[in-house]
Amino acid sequence: MAKKLFIETVGCQMNVLDSELVVGALRRQGYQLAMDAAEADVILFNTCSVREHAEEKIYSSLGRLRKHMEEHPEKVLGVLGCMAQKDQEIILKRAPYVDVVCGTGQLGRIAELIENARTTGRPQLALSLGRTDASRLEVERSFESYDPAREPSMRPTAFQAFVRIMFGCDKFCTYCVVPSTRGPEQSRPPEHILAEVQGLARQGAKEITLLGQTVNSYKFKNNDGRTTTLAGLLLLIHDTDGIERIKFVTNYPKDMTDELLQAVRDLPKICKYLHVPVQSGCDEVLKRMKRNYTVNYYREMLQRCREIVPGAAISSDFIVGFCGESEQAFQKSCDLISESKFKNSFIFKYSARPGTKADDLYPDDIDEETKKRRNNDLLALQNANSLLDHRAKIGQTVDVLVEGPSKAALKGKAVGPLQLTGRTMTDHIAVFDGNERLIGNSVRMVVEEATAFTLFCRVATEVTTGAREIAVPASQDTPWEEPRRTPLPLL
Ligand code: SAH
Ligand code: SF4
Ligand code: F3S
Repeated sequence: MAKKLFIETVGCQMNVLDSELVVGALRRQGYQLAMDAAEADVILFNTCSVREHAEEKIYSSLGRLRKHMEEHPEKVLGVLGCMAQKDQEIILKRAPYVDVVCGTGQLGRIAELIENARTTGRPQLALSLGRTDASRLEVERSFESYDPAREPSMRPTAFQAFVRIMFGCDKFCTYCVVPSTRGPEQSRPPEHILAEVQGLARQGAKEITLLGQTVNSYKFKNNDGRTTTLAGLLLLIHDTDGIERIKFVTNYPKDMTDELLQAVRDLPKICKYLHVPVQSGCDEVLKRMKRNYTVNYYREMLQRCREIVPGAAISSDFIVGFCGESEQAFQKSCDLISESKFKNSFIFKYSARPGTKADDLYPDDIDEETKKRRNNDLLALQNANSLLDHRAKIGQTVDVLVEGPSKAALKGKAVGPLQLTGRTMTDHIAVFDGNERLIGNSVRMVVEEATAFTLFCRVATEVTTGAREIAVPASQDTPWEEPRRTPLPLL
């Protein structure tokens, strides 16, 4: 009988992609996906360390499995990804029944590690990230020979796929664990990326999202001495048959070149959407965060984005309650968010991360209540702006890639005809009534109403009738810490 696999994923899109690749690799070994950990022979958690909350979620999931694992010693329990990379000892101490701890650089070996755990009965650790030149080469090879067997059911939808263009991060913002969980920044060869995009297009992908922690820092030195930048890469993959939309996340403010912005403007399949986190509106805080820019630099960069790419939607991230953030400093974030007209912002309460520079250097001196209040205040300002941004679209025609039933429809809360959802070319969430057959298609619509989170649209080519139902607003929280169970709902 086929062995069963259960995987739960927390974290960013990078992790969602890693889980897809891990499941793809294990499918090749004959595994089938299970919906429930209790039914599975192999139980995997793909983990995130970016905030304490994300880690605690995994420890409580592991805790809930203790009894089950003790009763079923033949089963294999694995912790993968960012926490595995950083905290192997703590994991084995808190959950000694874990069989496999596999970091982000070694996921290509997952099938072998599971097999070894099964045959030897001993915990298997695989953590090399490639910080020395020799092991770096080894890691590069393992990445590149990482046979990208894909598992479409793990994707957001059957026609949306992620493609990694870079590994790691070298920016070392003082609050952030990512450089230690993902290792040094490495760009993948453009021809490998192109081949992957072409392969995905053949499998039916219409929308590709290129992933990198600082995706606009992408740079690959080719054998002939030419350097390929993100702009060059976009040009290279743009005309791939079948691909209708290309996005890229996340951008680093210092690396937003005019060349890249011109490519976004000129290439029709590139979404006019830029996610460029600022983190704070106060120069002193930015300095302590080691973001390497000032608020004015960021303002000028925003202006440049909007001048070169007219109509571009820009979104951002903020951290509130970073070490030593005074009321005045926080007020500057409020001022920046008010003036910047972001499409949306993700706002996070600072979470001190052991091993980071900020944790070593500065006391985590803003109390939880204050962090919470600042989070809410900033969110309220952003929501007011999002509402204006959305309302300005009423009456406009937009192209929506239809993703599936809306949240309200999935929760059974929508009344009347089927309520669907999708995104515009500027990444705005659209909700509308329509036929299931529209799913996976790009459909022209007219915006009729708007809230801070949603554009309510009407399919331009079809006459729809029926009362408008009450939609559940999309959450402003990032989906990152929401565990994703496998398989994701397939449309
Ligand atoms: N590489 C991306 C995203 C990194 S993590 C970038 O540089 O923009 C995603 C977001 O989590 C960050 O933008 C930041 O806003 C937030 N974040 C990172 N570390 C954090 C911490 N220690 N506490 C709270 N939020 C954090
Ligand atoms: Fe973390 Fe900064 Fe790198 Fe983003 S750029 S992953 S916030 S260190
Ligand atoms: Fe992503 Fe979390 Fe790792 S945000 S890179 S999964 S620490």
